[in-house]
Amino acid sequence: MASTTPSTPADVRTARLGEIAAAAGTPCYVYDAGVIRAAYRTLDDAFDGYPHAIHYALKANSSLAVVRLLHSLGSHADANSLGEVDVALRCGFRPDQIVFTGVGKSAGEIDRAVSLGLLAINVESPGELDRIDQRAVAQNVTAPVALRVNPDIDAKSHPHISTGLKSNKFGVPIDEAPALFREMAARRGLQPVGAHVHIGSQITTLEPLEKAAQSVVALAHALRGEGIELQHLDMGGGLGISYDGSPVADPVAYVRALVGATRGSGLKVAIEPGRVLVGPAGVLLTTVVDVKQFPGAKRFVVVDAGMTELMRPALYNAYHRIEPLVHRDGDATIVDIVGPICESTDAYARDRAFPPVRVDDLLMVADVGAYGAAMGHTYLRRPLPPEIMLDGDQWRIIRRRQTLDELLSLEE
Ligand code: LLP
Repeated sequence: MASTTPSTPADVRTARLGEIAAAAGTPCYVYDAGVIRAAYRTLDDAFDGYPHAIHYALKANSSLAVVRLLHSLGSHADANSLGEVDVALRCGFRPDQIVFTGVGKSAGEIDRAVSLGLLAINVESPGELDRIDQRAVAQNVTAPVALRVNPDIDAKSHPHISTGLKSNKFGVPIDEAPALFREMAARRGLQPVGAHVHIGSQITTLEPLEKAAQSVVALAHALRGEGIELQHLDMGGGLGISYDGSPVADPVAYVRALVGATRGSGLKVAIEPGRVLVGPAGVLLTTVVDVKQFPGAKRFVVVDAGMTELMRPALYNAYHRIEPLVHRDGDATIVDIVGPICESTDAYARDRAFPPVRVDDLLMVADVGAYGAAMGHTYLRRPLPPEIMLDGDQWRIIRRRQTLDELLSLEE
């Protein structure tokens, strides 16, 4: 690893990762700023001058340095809680660059969202429409709102991350949308500015995303016929990435499909990408703490990171590439790579062919920039791990490791 002089870019990166692990300890997250910049530019350029806004979905990774980086690139923001709205504001986004989505906004969230004057509050139900109107009237303001429609389209993604079927809790059935838009237009406290659709995440084919876009464009045309003129169509997020090397829809083709669907309306396109912007930029560094073989049965590689640091494998059976940073001679064997948590679901990989590793070897879990640290938790009183930003040859700690005292500081 660091013992030889790095020659290729991959070697340089490996050397840096080794250096980071030695300095920050493991487990730790490392994000590559260059990868985030490139992903943002690819999406942004693909609009090719068509009016648009990219609202980075903070839920994917709301670490301040990551959010500030997206802000510096010209991104706008998509928040799914008041906490995320405030993080966006602290990272420099103006209220009119933020859309706020959430299937169960509390009274406090609605009140503050209305008072901030966000670009749009995405309305999830007739009841919520009413509550936003009441709060806006009470504050003597008009709240810009977009209606989140549920187009009943199968995203063909993991059932836990699909949101666009009528069996899912999100939005309002698209057939009810025209009546609700009329209602919004009639309310004193509301100004309907957009339509919103988000059918799920880790969507790997364009067809469902394109169909969803077409459904809101058709809605906007119908509304125009009734004299309700929208300003933007928010097509949500959801574009997938390739975790295992199999082909996925290309971001440029994705943007072209959305623009193709929308161009005739002349309306501005908003998107809310999360994963595609930050997912591939992140790796999780972890150290092997044990290797054990059950006679005639499984071989386990136990690492110091688990479902506390990265939930995705335990929660969705998600696949992440895992590679040792030190290459040892010998044949691959079939192993389970498991965490230290006392839960059987705490495994990063099962029955995977893996090169030989020893205790203290460093491993890298790939494509964890989205929904990795953001979904981390402190089960077993495990303090949150540090996060590092690597930028070219330089790196810095953007979140230090939590201490046990900090973890316990809210308690009696
Ligand atoms: N907009 C809304 C309203 C959303 O609910 C989401 C994600 C996004 C945008 C961003 O979607 P993306 O472009 O990242 O796919 N924890 C899961 C993913 C849950 C996504 C939920 N919504 C995972 O680890 O795969």
